[in-house]
Amino acid sequence: MTRMTLPALSGPPGDRLEVVSAWDDATPYQSWRPQILVPATFRPATPSRVYAVVNQKGGAGKTTTAVELGAAWAAQGLRVRLVDADTQEAALSAWLVPAYPEGEPRHSLRSVFFDECTLTEATYPTTVEGLDIVPSGADLARVEYERPIGAENAIAAALRQEAEEAGGRSPYDVTLIDGAPSLGLVTIAALTGADAAIVPVSVGGLDLLGMRSLHKTVRSVQRKTNPKLTVDAVVMTAWDKSTLARQVASRVAEDYPDAVVFPARRSVRAAEAPITQTPVRAHAPESTAAADYAQGADLLLRGAA
Ligand SMILES: Nc1ncnc2c1ncn2[C@@H]1O[C@H](COP(=O)(O)OP(=O)(O)OP(=O)(O)O)[C@@H](O)[C@H]1O
Ligand SMILES: [Mg+2]
Repeated sequence: MTRMTLPALSGPPGDRLEVVSAWDDATPYQSWRPQILVPATFRPATPSRVYAVVNQKGGAGKTTTAVELGAAWAAQGLRVRLVDADTQEAALSAWLVPAYPEGEPRHSLRSVFFDECTLTEATYPTTVEGLDIVPSGADLARVEYERPIGAENAIAAALRQEAEEAGGRSPYDVTLIDGAPSLGLVTIAALTGADAAIVPVSVGGLDLLGMRSLHKTVRSVQRKTNPKLTVDAVVMTAWDKSTLARQVASRVAEDYPDAVVFPARRSVRAAEAPITQTPVRAHAPESTAAADYAQGADLLLRGAA
């Protein structure tokens, strides 16, 4: 299999997001520039790092965010793995198709939950250099109704075992878990296994009650199964300049005061990318969406490969 190398970005350099440490609500609408909020308390993470990309709202931009942040880090030479934690067909595992070796059993995240294989055995290369995947399919739903022993801790345990077998450190610089539109057992397991959550929010589809229950879930996980969990980023997906977008930004910054908040600007090229089975960064390296995710990725995590 030949693997595609991710391109450098080709967008206009003047089109970058302005970095601020607080929202400036006083600037008139006409003179606004899209901004990335980096709170004074925020420190970039270093590898190896595990992120859970979560929001129980459907279509919030979870899969796009996982793929594009992953692609941005892979383009820097980091070893990146995406974990599909969603039962929907035609989601992540159809976007970045795993290359299964011939004549061997095909594993998935479900096999890890049911102790049928290790996380490493369920990880496959994709056609993109530096991006590997743990695939899933509809049978992942069995986890929710059969509730295998220790399911909440299954991802954490699998990551720990993998690191131990690799001499104490994960073989991946970044693992990004793409969550399902649900706060079920698999999402809890993702948050339990992660160092940090990343929350994509679709400005148009913002659901304030939903944001409340997500916030409560994160706090329960912090209290009960993963005290070290932080929320490192909120991504406003398919962002357009609007008064609503600015209100949404202020609102989420209140909920997650230590998180970086950034827009991923609306771009038709982002919506096309899954069909081409390549990240937006490869499909449209000149797009604002690719540039915004690259800038967010740079701020969130720094580290030599
Ligand atoms: N920056 C963007 N510009 C335009 N369209 C976008 C952008 N980001 C995401 N989209 C589109 O929005 C839709 C939802 O995005 P995505 O599939 O990433 O959300 P999701 O949260 O993973 O959904 P689900 O809850 O079904 O898993 C997709 O059609 C995607 O292509
Ligand atoms: Mg998705």
